Amino acid sequence: MDKFIIKGGKPLEGEVTISGAKNAVVAIIPAVILADGPCVLENIPEISDVSISLRILYEMGADVQNLGGGTYRIDATGIKEPVVPYELARHMRASYYFLGTLLGKFHKARVAMPGGCYLGDRPIDQHLKAFSALGATCSLDNGMVDINAGMLIGNQIYFDKITVGGTINTMLAACKATGLTVIENAAKEPHIVDLANFLNSMGADIMGAGTDVIKVRGVRSLKGTQYAVIPDQIEAGTYMVAAAATRGNVLIKNVIPKHLESITQKLAKIGVNVEEFDESVRISVDGPLVKTSVKTMPHPGFPTDMQPQISALLCLAEGTSIVTEDIFSNRFRYVDELRRMGADISVEGKVAVIEGVDHLKGAPVTAPDLRAGAALVIAGLAASGVTEIDDIYHIERGYENIEKKLRALGADIVKKSVPGSSVRKVEVG
Ligand code: EPU
Repeated sequence: MDKFIIKGGKPLEGEVTISGAKNAVVAIIPAVILADGPCVLENIPEISDVSISLRILYEMGADVQNLGGGTYRIDATGIKEPVVPYELARHMRASYYFLGTLLGKFHKARVAMPGGCYLGDRPIDQHLKAFSALGATCSLDNGMVDINAGMLIGNQIYFDKITVGGTINTMLAACKATGLTVIENAAKEPHIVDLANFLNSMGADIMGAGTDVIKVRGVRSLKGTQYAVIPDQIEAGTYMVAAAATRGNVLIKNVIPKHLESITQKLAKIGVNVEEFDESVRISVDGPLVKTSVKTMPHPGFPTDMQPQISALLCLAEGTSIVTEDIFSNRFRYVDELRRMGADISVEGKVAVIEGVDHLKGAPVTAPDLRAGAALVIAGLAASGVTEIDDIYHIERGYENIEKKLRALGADIVKKSVPGSSVRKVEVG
């Protein structure tokens, strides 16, 4: 299994460019199936969740060409069987987007249930409720979700809980349905808007993405398109926090500052300087870092995908910080690892209480999931001594070239391959 070895304690300095957004890409790649011609996708990050999504399309019969520089040409018109077997689906939670897109295209889908539950219970009841409202029958058979609809007919869908995946899957299934679908209590994340823009560029008629009511008027057909994916809000936030934790000075380029507002405001409260430009932000620190409270919420609230990273920073902030995780029930699995580095954190249910310490000390640690892994990288960069991070395949699911980008900022980080241990656990996103 590969490891990162970090000799910490150096301030990050220089410029870093943010890649395309993982959580937009993992929806947009399956959405290509809806098009009656080839699509060209730009700003696609080189991360393992992308390789898995492209592999699923390829194995199903799509023609996938890497044109270089993060651009892919995908012709999915060769896909005839709306089935994603367990072997392909199990590596990535976002494989559930094949349910919506195959249902939209073929009026049926058979996709293996997404595996594992690394962030706690992650049901898909709201996705299935929406498919049923559109006229589909849904059942679980031998670990496969089976969905069938004679016809898909637009309907009004109210989500009992705000769900990113459910909102995306409903948009995918509804854009070729007959009539109007109204999604209420919809998620508003930037990648929801990006998917809507992508589908609209294929000829879909989607309005209201980015608000809590999305209207999808079904169209007969969707055409191939060329589309550039938005920059990754969470990757940007991760570098913002890494710069702050090392008391560095970093210009983070290719960002949409509006998408970063909740992160920017929290960092400012902690005592970090954030300067915003049109497509970049600069992070620097010249005073003490101070405690704050953080509560994760659906967009535009503070993102759960930044909770572990900001907690790593708060370990180094003066005073007692309170972090409340309100989206997932098990997203504090990095806490034991940070404690091994000298952090003072206690967790009770969905609340973590963090007592700031003077400094963290390097230690061998294991990444329990993607964002937790990013938090350990941040802690390692800020800590004195050497931190060895195991199971970095989690981190590589969502961060393009992280060690190269950090090295260019002056970090002492190397990836070490440990031979003979290529067995990987189920990866979940
Ligand atoms: N939920 C239900 N029923 C459902 C769907 C969701 O109860 O049918 C619950 C979930 O259990 C959770 C909450 O609703 O408590 C929100 O879940 P949501 O559906 O919004 O999350 P998701 O679609 O499973 C996506 C991202 C996650 C990100 C969350 C929240 C992708 C592939 N994954 O997950 O990203 O944390 O939205 O923003 O887009 C990551 O990138 O590290 C990551 C985990």
